[in-house]
Amino acid sequence: MRHLLSAGDLSRDEATLVLDTARELAQVSSRSVKKLPTLRGRTVVNLFYEDSTRTRISFEAAAKRMSADVINFSVKGSSVSKGESLKDTALTLQAMGADGVVIRHGASGAARRLAGWVDGAVINAGDGTHEHPTQALLDAYTMRERMGRLEGLRVAIVGDVRHSRVARSNVLLLHTLGAEVTLVAPPTLLPVSVGTWPCGVSYDLDETLPKSDVVMMLRVQAERMRAAFFPSAREYSRRYGLDRDRFARLHDDAIVMHPGPMIRGMEISAEVADSPRSTITEQVANGVSVRMAVLYLLLGGSESAIGHNGS
Ligand code: CP
Repeated sequence: MRHLLSAGDLSRDEATLVLDTARELAQVSSRSVKKLPTLRGRTVVNLFYEDSTRTRISFEAAAKRMSADVINFSVKGSSVSKGESLKDTALTLQAMGADGVVIRHGASGAARRLAGWVDGAVINAGDGTHEHPTQALLDAYTMRERMGRLEGLRVAIVGDVRHSRVARSNVLLLHTLGAEVTLVAPPTLLPVSVGTWPCGVSYDLDETLPKSDVVMMLRVQAERMRAAFFPSAREYSRRYGLDRDRFARLHDDAIVMHPGPMIRGMEISAEVADSPRSTITEQVANGVSVRMAVLYLLLGGSESAIGHNGS
């Protein structure tokens, strides 16, 4: 693995290696070793053209926990406002010695373009409506920790699939890892290509819930939507929101996930979001371990640094 651009690029063995490495790093961190020397001397650039809370901060925390130098680039205040292109921005960062570039961009395909221009490893932190592979990896990690397996797990992904890079990456990765995914959405919020995706499709949340081990709720991404597609909040919530009554239809061991940011009261009620069967804050915590694993595997961290200096 040289870059991480799409969850679909990962083989079963590669994806499992990321999850196992994340587990090992999480165990080292839980033994109160706050900082590993693993990536000392490496430089990671966080290149964010779109807003982010969880992804940007957890990549920064992950890199710093492994002693990498971190450069945070945000579009606001940069020469992008003067018209500088992505390519020239990337080449400038490379000239400053970036070993890895973590990119979030509004254009689908931006991460793959970047990988053709720079020498270092490129990690896709979300490109348009296309993919968000580290989110899918941290979601799979969370499912495996909570449910003990991924093979045969029945996962419902609910909501605005059409504009969700999280949904696409999860479908591809979970299929590779042996889970059975069903997308649940109104027809207007499904992508036209959904028939080619390796998953089932339903328009009926109430019918799908009792057959699910994991329910992943998605935010309606109004910022990516033309008015014609935007559903009324009340109607959307009535048909596709996960409230107390719908939550009661789940079997006792089922879990509820959300990649965040969430709109409480629209796709998920506060009561469900804060319930012990919600993994939302665990997903955030696991995101740091998973991103540590990705940086470690792509930037060639010293293996002995996990076991020896970390123990
Ligand atoms: N899940 C996710 O990508 O969140 P942020 O937009 O806050 O990074």
